[in-house]
Amino acid sequence: MADETGSTTGAGAPAASDRNTLSVGSNGPLLLHDVHFLEQMAHFNRERVPERSPHAKGSGAFGKLEVTEDVSRFTKAALFQPGASTDLLLRFSTVAGEQGSPDTWRDVRGFAIKFYTSEGNYDLVGNNTPIFFLRDPIKFPHFIRSQKRLPDSGLRSSQMQWDFWTLNPESAHQVTYLMGVRGLPRSWRHMNGYGSHTFMWINASGEKFWVKYHFHTNQGMAYLSNAEAARITGEDADFHRRDLFDAIRREEFPSWKVSVQVMPYAEAKTYRYNPFDLTKTWPHGDYPLIPVGTMTLDRNPENFFAEIEQAAFSPGNLVPGIGLSPDKMLLGRAFAYNDAQRNRIGTNFHQVPVNKPKVPLNTYLFDGQMTIEHSGAAPVYAPNSAGRSWADETGPAEDGWETDTEMVRSAYELHADDDDFGQAGILVRDVFDDAQRDAFVDQVAGALASGLSEDVLERALQYWRNVDGETGERIAKQVREGKTPEPAEGMGEAG
Ligand code: HEM
Repeated sequence: MADETGSTTGAGAPAASDRNTLSVGSNGPLLLHDVHFLEQMAHFNRERVPERSPHAKGSGAFGKLEVTEDVSRFTKAALFQPGASTDLLLRFSTVAGEQGSPDTWRDVRGFAIKFYTSEGNYDLVGNNTPIFFLRDPIKFPHFIRSQKRLPDSGLRSSQMQWDFWTLNPESAHQVTYLMGVRGLPRSWRHMNGYGSHTFMWINASGEKFWVKYHFHTNQGMAYLSNAEAARITGEDADFHRRDLFDAIRREEFPSWKVSVQVMPYAEAKTYRYNPFDLTKTWPHGDYPLIPVGTMTLDRNPENFFAEIEQAAFSPGNLVPGIGLSPDKMLLGRAFAYNDAQRNRIGTNFHQVPVNKPKVPLNTYLFDGQMTIEHSGAAPVYAPNSAGRSWADETGPAEDGWETDTEMVRSAYELHADDDDFGQAGILVRDVFDDAQRDAFVDQVAGALASGLSEDVLERALQYWRNVDGETGERIAKQVREGKTPEPAEGMGEAG
């Protein structure tokens, strides 16, 4: 049915027809000067941009962080001052799957937040687990490739996954999380988020602290069993995306309690775990949770591509009062993301509205494809004598730390309680309840049951014995006896 108001070309002129191309007679050849038709075809060929290399499948929503407590003794960052309310975007994702892959495959989930603060954008690009598989960033591309697809068949491969994990035993803590209930969250609303890394906070007097972020879901933690997830995967690949969008549309706004663990700067040297090792948590008995406020999601995107696909998060986006830390993974990430986005979205990705800071800019990032924001005729170089300001900090970096030694390639210094398997064992023995431990044994045994060569299987069984002797034996017995029962339905809630 024709609409009287019609449509326009990209140039804004009335388009002739969205239904009929221009041809010589009704059976005749098409005409090259049907510019509207050519524009439609050419633009269509360019609709897709490269997907994120990891974390390709996801979605998100807008909301706010409201600070109800006073943590100003630890940081001067405006967004964490008492009473502050800051707009934000949160994107959830799976790690290994591609754009179209199911939301309900077992995987770690991304939990990436962009805070539009009064001092520029602050991005906290975390996951739903407080730790990660690795502690050196050079391993990251290898890790992601091992979780994606084989070079010849294009198939996913448990041989490749377990080969990588068992050759990198620092993965044990995170793999234990992944094989446990948190590997299959019921929805994005029903899972916690973590900044995972250790960050620096700096207060108004210049005092420094080490900080870990926690976002505890107010919806309660809830999980899917393997059977439920398999059913949902077949029925609705977008189950988590739909759940979030529908909940917000119904005005059931999901929220999370925000808190931090804070370690005095000097304690990092002597703490029993290396506090910059991303495979370790800080037990709450050592560093209790300090409440900060509440994060709520209350607005769906109006356009998925513009606001979610083009969203560009980076752990390098910091604001005054917040810094990085000697965590090598975090330092590696600080560079990686914006580089990915220059490739994925374009040189001026920061000018796309969803990425644009809500503060006045005075940036010397100049020209490039699709320049929209610009500084007119102002000088394009610094320093200059025409009155355009430039940055001129000197001396020790406010968010820096001391280092005075030779350059090396080495693992972290081991602290008293550091090893690869200890905290994974604590998770299995002391955090999982009996039902969760039984489900975990079934899950790991099931994952090892087929597709592995004997040497990788034996290495994997030893990996689990190293995590916990008894649990490892149960897994080995089950695998060797060929029993791989499905974990029980409805594994319930856990803190
Ligand atoms: C050295 C290690 C890592 C590297 C090099 C790396 C690199 C990347 C890259 C290139 C992207 C895609 C960015 C884009 O195209 O916009 C990405 C996405 C992401 N990464 Fe990492 N990553 C690393 C470790 C981690 C860790 C440890 C976490 C969590 C604690 C994490 C969480 C995420 C999340 C949540 C996303 C999706 C962001 C979004 O929603 O757009 N990554 N990563």
